[in-house]
Amino acid sequence: TQDTFTMHNGVTIPAIGFGTWQIPNEEAYDSVTIALKNGYTHIDTALAYGNEENVGKAIKDFDLPREEVFITSKLPAQIKGYQETLDAFEETITNLGVDYLDLYLIHAPWPWDQKGTDHTEGNIQSWKAMEKLYNDGKIRSIGVSNFEISDIQALLDNCDTVPMVNQIVFYAGRDQEDLLAFCKEHNILVEAYSPLATGQLLDDPVIKEIADKYEATPAQLLIQYCLQRDTLPLPKSTHEERIIENKTLEFTISDDDMEKLKQVEDVRN
Ligand code: A2P
Repeated sequence: TQDTFTMHNGVTIPAIGFGTWQIPNEEAYDSVTIALKNGYTHIDTALAYGNEENVGKAIKDFDLPREEVFITSKLPAQIKGYQETLDAFEETITNLGVDYLDLYLIHAPWPWDQKGTDHTEGNIQSWKAMEKLYNDGKIRSIGVSNFEISDIQALLDNCDTVPMVNQIVFYAGRDQEDLLAFCKEHNILVEAYSPLATGQLLDDPVIKEIADKYEATPAQLLIQYCLQRDTLPLPKSTHEERIIENKTLEFTISDDDMEKLKQVEDVRN
């Protein structure tokens, strides 16, 4: 299995990230410590997760050289605008106790309670602030999350920097063919959050049957599926044996089985 992806600006990113969404601040210290202990070097958090402080503390206490850990965080979905973005970034690096981020993403094109509404101008202003932080060396790469094609297109039309990443919900059966093709065309790396469909695919009989064939667990199969679709999976767990399992991938899924997995019924629809 591949170890890294390379973003279009040449920066490499470890191929499996440790997702921390829904890990409360009290549990984040232990979970991230376990992940680091077991070889994860890529941690994904967000201001909105409320756990940056303990994510940062775990990284600091683990005592790896800063450049050996890849840290992603996100601009809260409801914060749009140039100065607002610079301020939120400062809050994030203060929480984490770091002086730069490896990747910073606009968490969503719209505030969560206004899903689907148009915030193009706000996103453009936020993006310009992120470009400044990127050009100043405060962030090694910048991207977006939950963006549709039209949201990305607005940035391409109005800004200088093509996002390096779009982090979206992606798992077997939840195919977003057009969005994936668009990202590929623009060399935007797709990161897959909820690669296990937040756990809801793990008992699926089709998934189980295919996993058995590779002597893998359903979780391993679903994570490997993301990699073979050229997306970077961000599995989340608070259990050590699962954290280890999720990055131990020693098989390749056949084209036939990839197709079957693509066709699985979307459990979350
Ligand atoms: P837990 O954190 O209690 O281990 P996703 O990454 O798609 O958001 O899915 C996360 C969910 O899947 C969590 O409920 C997590 O539970 C569970 N999970 C993560 N890894 C595994 C695994 N290897 N086996 C079983 N369940 C897992």
